[in-house]
Amino acid sequence: MEPMNLFSVPEFILLGFSSQPGMQLLLFAVFLAIYLAILFENSLIFVLIRIDSHLHMPMYFFLANLSFLDISYTTITVPQMLLHLLSKEKNISYIGCIIQMYIFLSLGITECILYAVMAYDRYVAICHPLHYTLIMSRSVCVKMAASSWVGGFFFAMVHTGITMRLPYCGPNEIKHFFCEVPAILKLACADTRVTEVVVFVMGVILLMTPVFLILVSYVFILVALRISAAEGRLKAFSTCTAHITMVTLFCGAAVFMYMHPASSYSPERDKYFSFFYNVVCALLNPLIYSLRNKDVKGALVKLMGKK
Ligand SMILES: *[C@@H]1O[C@H](CO)[C@@H](O)[C@H](O)[C@H]1NC(C)=O
Repeated sequence: MEPMNLFSVPEFILLGFSSQPGMQLLLFAVFLAIYLAILFENSLIFVLIRIDSHLHMPMYFFLANLSFLDISYTTITVPQMLLHLLSKEKNISYIGCIIQMYIFLSLGITECILYAVMAYDRYVAICHPLHYTLIMSRSVCVKMAASSWVGGFFFAMVHTGITMRLPYCGPNEIKHFFCEVPAILKLACADTRVTEVVVFVMGVILLMTPVFLILVSYVFILVALRISAAEGRLKAFSTCTAHITMVTLFCGAAVFMYMHPASSYSPERDKYFSFFYNVVCALLNPLIYSLRNKDVKGALVKLMGKK
């Protein structure tokens, strides 16, 4: 008889980076340093935007959301990974695994939608500067931010649901550093083809739509910049290219991760992709989106001047 009980596997084991046994301590030190840097940078941005009234504008509220997201989704995965690097016990309960998968997916999808919202915000600011405060009113911004969060948590529920609907009865070693859908699907003891198609289609909708909207916004921005005065153009252009680079890195790695068939899933390679959009993006986001910004820099200088 096929065991169809959801709880037939009481726990999973996260192998993480244990295939390099001699490197555990080095990896621990490097990842810890990166994690602390992520916490520091993102909290700094978050606090600056909260306390400085010059930064009470839509763009900065979205950036505060982004920093909050970056802190949250790295905290869902990295501390556990650090613990597992030091300990022999690398298990996670079935329920723990579902919760981790769900929260990570929710925050990841929210982040993708938020990138699109921020691209739209820049589009309005550059292409319709006179109507900016009218279009991006306080209530519109709150609605847009809320929609990203609600959308993220809703679609993640669907995604997690279809993954955990499958029976897990045999192998329980996850060759990854946290419970992520493609790595878990590998362990299902049932035909995963239908699930894979659903994951793929959701990937198209959830990743490609924001990417498409972002590209459209930036095309409009570039066209607008071409016909406006030369001064400031270079700066706006460099801001846009920085944003596009960031989005391409984050969404590109996620596209690669979620949109290739499970048969071509290689845990050894793909956990580095995962690490990339999980950790590297959270590390670079504040540098690229906020700390290059002159208002944020101004607020930082002012804060340090007070001390
Ligand atoms: C996210 O953005 C919204 C809309 O601007 C804002 O009201 C909210 O306070 C932000 N949330 C966080 C956690 O920064």
